Amino acid sequence: MNFQTVVNSRRSIRWFQNQEIATETLQTIVETAQKVPSFVNSQPVRVVIATGNTLATIREQHLQSVVNQAPSQSVLPYQPIPEWDDGAKANIMGWFASTKEQIGDDWGTMMGKAGANLYNAQAIVYLTLPKDYPDWSLVDLGAFSEALMLAAQDAGVDSLPAYEFVKFADDLMAPLKLTDDQQVVMGIGLGYRDEDSLLNQIRSGRMDTESILTILD
Ligand SMILES: Cc1cc2nc3c(=O)[nH]c(=O)nc-3n(C[C@H](O)[C@H](O)[C@H](O)COP(=O)(O)O)c2cc1C
Repeated sequence: MNFQTVVNSRRSIRWFQNQEIATETLQTIVETAQKVPSFVNSQPVRVVIATGNTLATIREQHLQSVVNQAPSQSVLPYQPIPEWDDGAKANIMGWFASTKEQIGDDWGTMMGKAGANLYNAQAIVYLTLPKDYPDWSLVDLGAFSEALMLAAQDAGVDSLPAYEFVKFADDLMAPLKLTDDQQVVMGIGLGYRDEDSLLNQIRSGRMDTESILTILD
Protein backbone atom coordinates (compact mmCIF):
# COMPACT_ATOMS: atom_id res chain seq x y z
CA MET A 1 0.00 0.00 0.00
CA ASN A 2 1.28 3.49 -0.68
CA PHE A 3 1.62 5.89 2.25
CA GLN A 4 -1.51 7.99 1.50
CA THR A 5 -3.64 4.85 1.20
CA VAL A 6 -2.33 3.51 4.52
CA VAL A 7 -2.91 6.80 6.36
CA ASN A 8 -6.33 7.43 4.85
CA SER A 9 -7.64 3.90 5.32
CA ARG A 10 -6.79 3.64 9.02
CA ARG A 11 -9.68 4.36 11.33
CA SER A 12 -10.66 3.18 14.75
CA ILE A 13 -12.34 -0.21 14.70
CA ARG A 14 -14.53 -0.98 17.72
CA TRP A 15 -15.52 -4.58 17.11
CA PHE A 16 -13.15 -7.22 15.74
CA GLN A 17 -13.90 -10.65 14.26
CA ASN A 18 -12.86 -13.85 16.04
CA GLN A 19 -9.83 -14.25 13.80
CA GLU A 20 -6.33 -14.53 15.20
CA ILE A 21 -3.40 -12.54 13.89
CA ALA A 22 -0.30 -14.52 12.92
CA THR A 23 2.65 -14.08 15.33
CA GLU A 24 4.96 -13.18 12.41
CA THR A 25 2.58 -10.39 11.43
CA LEU A 26 2.67 -8.99 14.98
CA GLN A 27 6.47 -9.14 14.94
CA THR A 28 6.67 -7.29 11.61
CA ILE A 29 4.29 -4.59 12.83
CA VAL A 30 6.40 -3.91 15.94
CA GLU A 31 9.64 -3.99 13.96
CA THR A 32 8.26 -1.29 11.65
CA ALA A 33 7.03 0.81 14.58
CA GLN A 34 10.55 0.72 16.03
CA LYS A 35 11.71 2.93 13.14
CA VAL A 36 10.21 5.99 14.88
CA PRO A 37 12.54 8.67 16.18
CA SER A 38 12.93 9.18 19.92
CA PHE A 39 14.62 11.71 22.19
CA VAL A 40 18.43 11.14 21.84
CA ASN A 41 17.44 7.73 20.45
CA SER A 42 16.48 6.74 23.99
CA GLN A 43 13.86 4.24 22.66
CA PRO A 44 11.98 4.16 25.97
CA VAL A 45 8.97 2.14 24.80
CA ARG A 46 8.61 -1.56 25.60
CA VAL A 47 5.90 -3.68 24.04
CA VAL A 48 3.93 -6.55 25.50
CA ILE A 49 1.29 -8.12 23.28
CA ALA A 50 -1.46 -10.14 24.90
CA THR A 51 -3.14 -12.84 22.82
CA GLY A 52 -4.77 -16.22 23.53
CA ASN A 53 -5.10 -17.25 27.16
CA THR A 54 -3.36 -14.14 28.50
CA LEU A 55 -5.84 -11.93 26.68
CA ALA A 56 -8.77 -14.11 27.79
CA THR A 57 -7.71 -13.61 31.43
CA ILE A 58 -7.34 -9.86 30.95
CA ARG A 59 -10.70 -9.62 29.18
CA GLU A 60 -12.49 -11.49 31.93
CA GLN A 61 -10.89 -9.34 34.63
CA HIS A 62 -11.69 -6.15 32.71
CA LEU A 63 -15.35 -7.07 32.35
CA GLN A 64 -15.51 -7.76 36.07
CA SER A 65 -13.96 -4.39 36.89
CA VAL A 66 -16.46 -2.63 34.60
CA VAL A 67 -19.39 -4.49 36.22
CA ASN A 68 -18.03 -3.59 39.66
CA GLN A 69 -17.59 0.04 38.55
CA ALA A 70 -13.99 -0.09 39.73
CA PRO A 71 -12.21 3.28 39.71
CA SER A 72 -9.83 4.07 36.87
CA GLN A 73 -6.15 3.39 37.58
CA SER A 74 -4.72 4.64 34.30
CA VAL A 75 -1.15 5.94 34.44
CA LEU A 76 -2.21 9.04 32.48
CA PRO A 77 -5.20 10.32 34.46
CA TYR A 78 -8.62 10.56 32.85
CA GLN A 79 -9.58 14.18 32.27
CA PRO A 80 -13.33 14.91 32.65
CA ILE A 81 -14.74 16.62 29.54
CA PRO A 82 -15.65 19.94 31.22
CA GLU A 83 -11.98 20.35 32.13
CA TRP A 84 -10.71 20.33 28.52
CA ASP A 85 -10.07 23.64 26.76
CA ASP A 86 -12.94 25.09 24.68
CA GLY A 87 -11.51 23.98 21.33
CA ALA A 88 -11.05 20.36 22.40
CA LYS A 89 -14.44 20.37 24.17
CA ALA A 90 -16.18 21.54 20.97
CA ASN A 91 -14.51 18.73 19.00
CA ILE A 92 -15.44 16.14 21.62
CA MET A 93 -19.08 17.28 21.70
CA GLY A 94 -19.12 17.36 17.89
CA TRP A 95 -17.83 13.77 17.81
CA PHE A 96 -20.56 12.62 20.23
CA ALA A 97 -23.22 14.29 18.06
CA SER A 98 -21.95 12.92 14.75
CA THR A 99 -21.55 9.42 16.22
CA LYS A 100 -25.15 9.53 17.44
CA GLU A 101 -26.27 10.67 13.99
CA GLN A 102 -24.34 7.86 12.30
CA ILE A 103 -25.25 4.86 14.46
CA GLY A 104 -28.23 5.97 16.56
CA ASP A 105 -29.29 7.10 20.04
CA ASP A 106 -27.99 3.88 21.56
CA TRP A 107 -24.39 4.62 20.60
CA GLY A 108 -23.14 5.15 24.15
CA THR A 109 -24.55 1.87 25.43
CA MET A 110 -23.19 -0.01 22.40
CA MET A 111 -19.78 1.49 22.88
CA GLY A 112 -19.83 0.80 26.60
CA LYS A 113 -20.66 -2.89 26.02
CA ALA A 114 -17.97 -3.22 23.36
CA GLY A 115 -15.46 -1.53 25.65
CA ALA A 116 -16.33 -3.81 28.54
CA ASN A 117 -15.38 -6.70 26.24
CA LEU A 118 -12.23 -4.95 25.04
CA TYR A 119 -13.82 -4.56 21.60
CA ASN A 120 -13.17 -8.26 20.94
CA ALA A 121 -9.60 -7.28 20.00
CA GLN A 122 -7.62 -10.37 19.01
CA ALA A 123 -4.34 -8.96 20.25
CA ILE A 124 -3.75 -6.03 22.56
CA VAL A 125 -0.47 -4.20 22.27
CA TYR A 126 0.47 -2.70 25.62
CA LEU A 127 3.04 0.08 25.48
CA THR A 128 5.04 0.58 28.64
CA LEU A 129 7.49 3.19 29.89
CA PRO A 130 9.94 3.09 32.80
CA LYS A 131 8.38 4.26 36.05
CA ASP A 132 10.16 7.64 36.21
CA TYR A 133 10.03 8.49 32.55
CA PRO A 134 10.65 12.08 31.41
CA ASP A 135 7.69 13.81 29.66
CA TRP A 136 9.58 13.54 26.37
CA SER A 137 9.05 9.79 26.44
CA LEU A 138 5.32 10.44 26.03
CA VAL A 139 6.10 12.14 22.72
CA ASP A 140 8.09 9.05 21.74
CA LEU A 141 5.29 6.74 22.83
CA GLY A 142 2.73 8.71 20.80
CA ALA A 143 4.90 8.48 17.71
CA PHE A 144 5.41 4.77 18.32
CA SER A 145 1.65 4.27 18.62
CA GLU A 146 0.80 5.88 15.30
CA ALA A 147 3.64 4.10 13.49
CA LEU A 148 2.40 0.81 14.92
CA MET A 149 -1.18 1.45 13.77
CA LEU A 150 -0.03 2.40 10.29
CA ALA A 151 2.23 -0.65 10.10
CA ALA A 152 -0.76 -2.75 11.11
CA GLN A 153 -2.92 -1.10 8.44
CA ASP A 154 -0.24 -1.82 5.86
CA ALA A 155 -0.35 -5.47 6.91
CA GLY A 156 -4.16 -5.52 6.53
CA VAL A 157 -4.72 -5.48 10.30
CA ASP A 158 -7.19 -3.03 11.85
CA SER A 159 -6.58 -1.19 15.09
CA LEU A 160 -8.01 0.84 17.96
CA PRO A 161 -6.02 3.03 20.32
CA ALA A 162 -7.99 3.12 23.56
CA TYR A 163 -7.91 4.45 27.08
CA GLU A 164 -10.28 1.57 27.84
CA PHE A 165 -7.40 -0.90 27.43
CA VAL A 166 -5.37 0.73 30.19
CA LYS A 167 -8.16 1.98 32.43
CA PHE A 168 -7.41 -0.68 35.05
CA ALA A 169 -3.63 -0.56 34.67
CA ASP A 170 -2.87 -2.13 38.07
CA ASP A 171 -4.77 -5.28 37.08
CA LEU A 172 -2.59 -5.68 33.99
CA MET A 173 0.71 -6.00 35.84
CA ALA A 174 0.41 -9.68 36.80
CA PRO A 175 -1.05 -11.07 33.55
CA LEU A 176 1.50 -9.09 31.51
CA LYS A 177 4.30 -10.31 33.82
CA LEU A 178 5.47 -6.74 34.40
CA THR A 179 7.73 -5.64 37.22
CA ASP A 180 7.19 -2.44 39.23
CA ASP A 181 9.79 -0.51 37.25
CA GLN A 182 7.50 -0.46 34.19
CA GLN A 183 4.16 1.30 33.71
CA VAL A 184 1.47 0.44 31.16
CA VAL A 185 0.74 3.79 29.54
CA MET A 186 -1.27 2.92 26.44
CA GLY A 187 -3.03 0.03 24.74
CA ILE A 188 -3.77 -0.61 21.09
CA GLY A 189 -6.22 -3.31 20.03
CA LEU A 190 -5.57 -5.21 16.83
CA GLY A 191 -7.68 -7.54 14.71
CA TYR A 192 -9.77 -7.79 11.60
CA ARG A 193 -12.85 -5.59 11.45
CA ASP A 194 -16.31 -7.11 11.78
CA GLU A 195 -18.08 -5.58 8.78
CA ASP A 196 -21.50 -6.25 10.34
CA SER A 197 -20.86 -4.20 13.46
CA LEU A 198 -22.66 -0.87 13.55
CA LEU A 199 -19.79 0.50 15.66
CA ASN A 200 -17.48 0.10 12.70
CA GLN A 201 -19.58 2.48 10.63
CA ILE A 202 -18.40 5.45 12.68
CA ARG A 203 -16.40 7.97 10.68
CA SER A 204 -14.63 10.75 12.56
CA GLY A 205 -14.12 14.12 10.91
CA ARG A 206 -11.18 16.48 11.27
CA MET A 207 -10.92 20.24 11.67
CA ASP A 208 -10.16 22.28 8.56
CA THR A 209 -6.40 22.45 8.13
CA GLU A 210 -6.56 26.27 7.91
CA SER A 211 -8.01 26.39 11.42
CA ILE A 212 -5.08 24.54 12.99
CA LEU A 213 -2.21 25.67 10.81
CA THR A 214 -0.14 28.83 10.74
CA ILE A 215 2.73 29.14 8.30
CA LEU A 216 4.82 32.21 8.96
CA ASP A 217 7.08 33.75 6.39
C1 LIG B 1 -5.21 8.26 23.38
C2 LIG B 1 -6.49 7.76 22.75
C3 LIG B 1 -7.44 7.13 23.55
C4 LIG B 1 -8.62 6.65 22.97
N1 LIG B 1 -9.50 5.97 23.75
C5 LIG B 1 -10.60 5.41 23.19
C6 LIG B 1 -11.47 4.61 23.97
O1 LIG B 1 -11.26 4.35 25.17
N2 LIG B 1 -12.56 4.08 23.36
C7 LIG B 1 -12.83 4.30 22.03
O2 LIG B 1 -13.84 3.79 21.54
N3 LIG B 1 -12.02 5.05 21.26
C8 LIG B 1 -10.91 5.59 21.80
N4 LIG B 1 -10.03 6.33 21.02
C9 LIG B 1 -10.29 6.48 19.59
C10 LIG B 1 -10.75 7.91 19.22
O3 LIG B 1 -12.08 8.07 19.55
C11 LIG B 1 -10.53 8.09 17.69
O4 LIG B 1 -9.15 7.98 17.41
C12 LIG B 1 -11.04 9.44 17.18
O5 LIG B 1 -12.42 9.53 17.33
C13 LIG B 1 -10.68 9.65 15.71
O6 LIG B 1 -11.22 8.60 14.94
P1 LIG B 1 -10.36 7.64 14.01
O7 LIG B 1 -9.32 6.97 14.85
O8 LIG B 1 -11.36 6.64 13.44
O9 LIG B 1 -9.73 8.48 12.94
C14 LIG B 1 -8.85 6.82 21.57
C15 LIG B 1 -7.88 7.45 20.79
C16 LIG B 1 -6.71 7.89 21.35
C17 LIG B 1 -5.65 8.52 20.46
